Amino acid sequence: MKNKKYYITTPIYYPSGNWHIGHCYTTVICDALARFHKMLGEDVFFLTGTDEHGQKIEKEAKKRGVTPIQFIDPLVAELKDMWRLLDISYDRFIRTTDKDHEECVKKIYQKLYDSGDIYKAEYSGYYCTPCESMWTEAQLVGGKCPDCGREVTLQKEESYFFRLSKYAPKILKLYKDNPEFLQPKSRVNEMVNNFLEAGLQDLCVSRTTVKWGVQLPFDKNHYAYVWIDALSNYISALGYLSEDDSLYKKYWPADLHMIGKEIVRFHAIIWPAILMALGEPVPKQVYGHGWLLIGGDKLSKSKQDAVKCELTDPYELVKRYGTDAVRYFLLREIPFGSDGEYTNERFLNRINADLANDLGNLVSRTQAMILQNFDGVPPRGKAEGVDGELIAMAEGLFGKVKDAVERLNAPDALSEIFAVISRANKYIDETTPWILAKDPGKKQRLGAVLYNLAETVRICAVMLKPFLTKAPALILKSFSCDENAGFESLKFGVLKEGAKIEKLPPVFPRVDVKKELAEVEKLVASLKKTETKTEMEENKKELITIDDFAKVEMRVGTVTACEPVKKSRLLHETVSIGGKNLSVLSGIAEHYTAEEMVGKRVIVVTNLPPREMKGILSEGMIICAQGPDGKLSVVAPEKDLPDGSLLS
Ligand code: MSP
Repeated sequence: MKNKKYYITTPIYYPSGNWHIGHCYTTVICDALARFHKMLGEDVFFLTGTDEHGQKIEKEAKKRGVTPIQFIDPLVAELKDMWRLLDISYDRFIRTTDKDHEECVKKIYQKLYDSGDIYKAEYSGYYCTPCESMWTEAQLVGGKCPDCGREVTLQKEESYFFRLSKYAPKILKLYKDNPEFLQPKSRVNEMVNNFLEAGLQDLCVSRTTVKWGVQLPFDKNHYAYVWIDALSNYISALGYLSEDDSLYKKYWPADLHMIGKEIVRFHAIIWPAILMALGEPVPKQVYGHGWLLIGGDKLSKSKQDAVKCELTDPYELVKRYGTDAVRYFLLREIPFGSDGEYTNERFLNRINADLANDLGNLVSRTQAMILQNFDGVPPRGKAEGVDGELIAMAEGLFGKVKDAVERLNAPDALSEIFAVISRANKYIDETTPWILAKDPGKKQRLGAVLYNLAETVRICAVMLKPFLTKAPALILKSFSCDENAGFESLKFGVLKEGAKIEKLPPVFPRVDVKKELAEVEKLVASLKKTETKTEMEENKKELITIDDFAKVEMRVGTVTACEPVKKSRLLHETVSIGGKNLSVLSGIAEHYTAEEMVGKRVIVVTNLPPREMKGILSEGMIICAQGPDGKLSVVAPEKDLPDGSLLS
């Protein structure tokens, strides 16, 4: 029989380089789910990667004087390194700069253009560069990006549009007919109330000003909008529209797109609409998980700097506490679907309580008692009263964990496993093996108790394998069991009598939380110091010399005449700079009327090469400053200087 397939994806990451533990959340969850499905014998394809095009990268690279790819490559290597540290078992790491991906994006655009779902028109709207998203004026909150609250810029250009509006009723129907499509339920309400109910506007899907992207096949002046480029990764990775689309045929539609809640709009509205327009099936499920918070806000690089002492760097966390501890915290601590606060203390308490105390103690006590009293694992004895409950729990564990995994709920899955671990620790207290050991007549009973414990440990280790990647294998090996054992080995009683025990050093050493917190605070402070140093070094690159500055000629002037330039954001000023009149074009028509400009004192850059725009020659540039609301203000000299005065 053909194996069931399971196609799971993370979002593709912006190569920002400022990785924090919040970034690891989506990917660690996906990895645990992928591993679980692999252990079920399913044919799993697990995709992750990087989202490398767009304005943000173009700007950052320019700032550093390197090409975008020179800027990105080391960051991608860093991200891959992070995934290696966290044992992320992806099947493909896609980069949106991969040739096959770029080809696929072109074909997708061509197909949508040919079918009439992409058309050309004038775009005018507000752009949030950090989110790479477009907004109408009505959607802004207090003039800022409604998603992240940052500044937006007004942009007008000729663009291609995708007929998103046409798909609003189809998407509403999709939600209604397939309640599983978007989870958790609260996200459906957000999408319907905030976007779909009011109807959708067509989406601008090309840019002419941002050139770091995929060039459109039907118009070389235009480049693909980054979100369409990025979303396409889920099918380009499978060879969609390529010569060999066997993976696409095998794995699409995806079983699960796991994403953070802030990008649900793109995945649950735009993406299904694109797929519908392409005539392809939509993913079976999109899950918008919650965030790791710090001080009540989404954990982010800037937040992390502002908050005193939390250690959020994944490399440091893994170095200090190990891969399993970081994975365990992420998978266990945050109630699934909701947000959860991150603090050093919560992290340490969680790993101390569950991993060092519950699991660590159970393993070491069981092994120590077997080694003290028997040569190897004793034989299974006749079950007595209290044994039954433990055995039933261990035997029933797989069903419960599978059920939680089907609900994607890793915290529930782990809490089921740890309920059995706790029960086994309680079983030790109830059966008092150290007392049984003192009575030679109770040797057989002691053997049965220790067998039950060893077998429970083995079953829990197998069940933990999708979630933790180091300790389960060590535990299994120490009981002479196959570290590759899968779910087929879960029956109680599989452990062989006489199996040799190799005593493990503590798998999860207990930490003194108070002492450790103080150490971590010191570490964070020292990390911040080195970071500030490198930031300063980086900023140095952008400094200019006094000679550079001296090259710019700026003079005081007065606007003597001004008129708007038709169909543009430009004003055409005549500026007197003392004996000479300059013709100047400035993009300030949204901020000043022509009448307001006449008579204004201004500062003009006078040694720029003359430039023609809209058939008018511009011989200088009026200096303006931008306020926090994005409004421009003309800068004037403080004293009444004569026109032509030179700035120095
Ligand atoms: N590039 C887009 C996704 C395009 S998918 C077609 C993007 N990238 S990201 O790097 O900003 O985010 C990657 C993942 O990290 C997202 O799922 C995001 O929600 C997750 N997280 C980033 N910070 C987070 C927290 N503080 N908490 C939990 N997850 C968060 O978005």
